[in-house]
Parts: sequence; C-alpha cells; structure tokens
Amino acid sequence: GDAGSDNQHGGPEPQARRLPCCQFFFTQILKFYDEEKRDFPWRTFSPNPYHVYISEIMLQQTTTTTVKNYFLRFIQQFPALDALAKVDVSAVFLLWQGLGYYSRARNLHKAAQIMSAQGGIPNQYTDLIALPGIGDYTAKAILAIAFNEPVLPIDGNIKRVFARYFGLAAPYEQLHAIIEKMEFDFQGRSGDICQGLMDFANIICLPKTPKCAQCSLQQSCQAYLTNKVDVLPRPKKRVEKKLMLMDGLVCIKDGCIGLNLHKSGTLLGGLWNIPMVDSEAVFPDVTSSCAQHLELVRAGIQKEKLGLSPCGVVGCQVFLSSGKPIRHIFTHIDLRLTLRFLEDLECDEFVPLSNLSDYPLSRLTMKVIENIRL
Ligand code: ADE
Ligand code: SF4
Repeated sequence: GDAGSDNQHGGPEPQARRLPCCQFFFTQILKFYDEEKRDFPWRTFSPNPYHVYISEIMLQQTTTTTVKNYFLRFIQQFPALDALAKVDVSAVFLLWQGLGYYSRARNLHKAAQIMSAQGGIPNQYTDLIALPGIGDYTAKAILAIAFNEPVLPIDGNIKRVFARYFGLAAPYEQLHAIIEKMEFDFQGRSGDICQGLMDFANIICLPKTPKCAQCSLQQSCQAYLTNKVDVLPRPKKRVEKKLMLMDGLVCIKDGCIGLNLHKSGTLLGGLWNIPMVDSEAVFPDVTSSCAQHLELVRAGIQKEKLGLSPCGVVGCQVFLSSGKPIRHIFTHIDLRLTLRFLEDLECDEFVPLSNLSDYPLSRLTMKVIENIRL
C-alpha cells in the first residue's frame, strides 16, 4: 500500500499508468462490508474454520441462497470436523442430495478424515491445496476468512469488480494472473475484504446492470470514469458444452420406481439415478409385446395424464413422453433426457416412491420425478 498518494487524492482521481494501489479501494470495500454485509450463517464474529471449510466447499458451485439451508442442516448433523470424519460417506451423500457436483461430498468427507487425523483445518496454503476437493480459490478463501491470512481468492466476481474498478482491458482469460500480481494491503482484515468484495460484487457491481449510481467507488472507478462499464470485463471465450442425448427409463411397479446406484467416479457417482441409455441404444433392446397400456391402467396411472404415446415401433412396450426432453447442464455436458416409460426394467433396486427421501438422488433424477408427477 502507498498511503501517501492515496491521502492526496482521497479517492476521486483515477490512478493511471501504474500498478493500481488498493488502499482506497479496500478501505471503501471494508466500509461497505461493515454497513451492508449479507447475513450468512457461516459468517460469525469469530469464524470457525470448520464452518468456513464446509461453506466454501458448498459455495464452490452453488448459490448462497441454496447453500444457507444445506449449511445449517449439515452443521446440525455434523457439528465438528471429527464428527464428520467418523460417519459413513453415505450419510454425507444423503445430506448433499440436491446440491449437485457430488464428487464434492466424497472429497469433503475424505478431506475431513485427513484433517481430523492431522488435528484440524490447516492454516497453510500447501497443506490445504494438498487436500481432495480444495483448489487455489478455496484454499485462499479458507486462509483469508478463517485465518485472516493476507491472500485474495480470485473468482469471477473478483475479476469483474477489479476489471471495472481498475479498468483492466486485458482478455478475460488473463485477468486472474494480472490480479494475482497486484500488491495488496489488507489492513489486517483479509477475511472482511474478501467477503466484502463478494458482497459488493453481488449487491452493487452486478454482472449485467451494476448499480453505479449507488456505488461509493464510482468517482474512482476507471470503467465508470471512462464510460466502459458495459464493456469491462471483456467477455469470456465461450466453451461449448458437449450435447448428450439420452433416454431416461422410467418404470413404476407397485408404487416403486426402478433406480440405479451409480458407481463412484462416474457421472453422478454415489447417487441413485433413473436408468439412462444413449438415445439410439434403446430401440434394439425393446422387443416384447405392447402390454404397457394394461400395466399402466392396472397401476392406476392414466397414460393420457402423463402425456404418453406408444413409440410407434410394432410390438414395442416403450411409451414416449410427449413432453420436451429434460434439460440438465453438467460442467462439460448439456444433457437432453427423453423419458421413456417401460413395463419392466432391469435395475439395481425398485424403490418405494414413498421412501425416496432415504435415497440420495441426483438432482437430475429429482427433476425426472417431479416431471412425471405421480
Ligand atoms: N462465495 C464463496 N465464498 C463465499 C462466502 N464466504 N460468502 C459469500 N459468497 C461466497
Ligand atoms: Fe462497479 Fe459501477 Fe461501482 Fe464501477 S462504479 S465499481 S462499475 S458499480
């Protein structure tokens, strides 16, 4: 930090042609945090490293609104690291269902066991980054928030705010490295600065319509002063997700639905799922007679209500859902799942529809079950 020059301009003047200094910027962020910080259960006055750890893992790919409830239930059931380390991983999966990205649950549990054996949540970057499920961002977030270490976790929010405030016109892909090279004076409040930046990014400096009129940094914001708020940060290069067409096989017998438990290490591993096949693979397997009408009627299900129609192949027992395929986005996959209703099905287990809550279901399967509305 360079306090002298900051005092001189007291904020309003843009700082050009040198490595940006964060003193004034961070002071304003801290002021904002003190006045406007969001109320989250993991933000206690004296942050508990275990709470910070759990919340940061949950927040990796899930919004704060969703995480709130999951976090509270999690902490209630597993109040400390040692308690979490002791339970079977299936208990963790059960709590995690609906949060998505389930390898997080497995890694969270694995890391908890390692940390528990080592005596607690580590406060060193090299120890944190060595744990399963903890990358550069999460390691730094834990260091800053739980231990007040002078580091800045850099995510999309931070990149957006910095690109605008400091007028960084570099390609989006370079912003991380640029921000990492900047010198920071955390004023002894790293955790608050880091969380203040998160809140500022989510309340004021929003991606689409930033609230510049309400922004205390407006008069020192490069993007604002040069009329570039709309063009900074520069857009990301779009990564195409792989389109995947699959059929979800729905078979309901005696109030039970056929589900598969996916092996860990595969897509949706550790969770119960609607059986799925590649879309072109389903027809050759289907040969027996079309007794589906009867079966559905016997099960008390009116196929008209479900919007079902026979697939059209003579002798086929598969009914097609007339609805649109269910769309589900994974990290690298854009899945379109067409539901097909079968009379019988080979699967791991027929689960009573009334007991579904005992089975950790993937979010995709939850969507399917909501969709068929039985
Ligand atoms: N996103 C990631 N970590 C967060 C935190 N601690 N508070 C709010 N949003 C976050
Ligand atoms: Fe963001 Fe606008 Fe504030 Fe600049 S003035 S930091 S663009 S909200």
